[in-house]
Amino acid sequence: MIFGKQENKQPVERVLPRHLGIIMDGNGRWAKKRGLPRSAGHTAGASNFRTITRYCSNIGIPYLTVYAFSTENWKRPEEEVSALMKLFQQYLEEALRDFLDENIRVRFIGDTSVFSPKLRELIQRVEDSSACKTGMVLNIAMNYGGRAEIIHAARSLAEKVRQGEMAPEEITEEVFSQALYTGGQPDPDLIIRPSGEQRTSNFLLWQSAYAEYIVCDILWPDFKTKDLEEALDEFSRRQRRFGGV
Ligand code: FPP
Repeated sequence: MIFGKQENKQPVERVLPRHLGIIMDGNGRWAKKRGLPRSAGHTAGASNFRTITRYCSNIGIPYLTVYAFSTENWKRPEEEVSALMKLFQQYLEEALRDFLDENIRVRFIGDTSVFSPKLRELIQRVEDSSACKTGMVLNIAMNYGGRAEIIHAARSLAEKVRQGEMAPEEITEEVFSQALYTGGQPDPDLIIRPSGEQRTSNFLLWQSAYAEYIVCDILWPDFKTKDLEEALDEFSRRQRRFGGV
């Protein structure tokens, strides 16, 4: 079920978001419901990540950002964090094989400098080897936090001012957007959050100023392409006013 869905069921012409964000939430609850360890939920979530990513690429979504690991997720039990790191390693190795065949350009947003040397090396290889791809841009948010991203951008601009490369009054919304990890990309038009939680959880804080939110009560591993289709229909019905009338 999509919360706050408009009752108008008239068929609408499909409008694809230029940039779709997904908060892949509910893996832990999915596992708990089955009496499995939380890590099993992440494994199922990672498999679904692959299915949904491929689908988004096939239907022509230009930019997809998925929230894989937040700056706050380090607070989880060590066992769960380490299972997630292993999963990232495994899926990035697979991404090197699979996504490259599919013309997907993979980028990472967040502070990846804290990951193990092995994972960092893999992240670099995935970025480098997909840099020439011309299809969908997939941003994987890892050790990402919207507030941390804003601080990072503010510091880089402050440094330019200190070096005399720019004046403070040259810092406009456009300039600031360019200094974010997503610089050069359009802002997300749509953010989908499965699992029933109705909060932003520090995801794309600056960029989502005018994003449509769709929240549904399906846990991420159960969120199938038909649910994505339903969310895209709902998005197509929304009237976006960007502060106007
Ligand atoms: C949130 O669910 C999910 C995560 C913190 C991890 C998401 C990661 C994946 C789906 C793996 C993706 C892999 C790659 C390579 C991108 P939760 O654990 O907070 O669920 P809960 O709210 O039910 O406890």
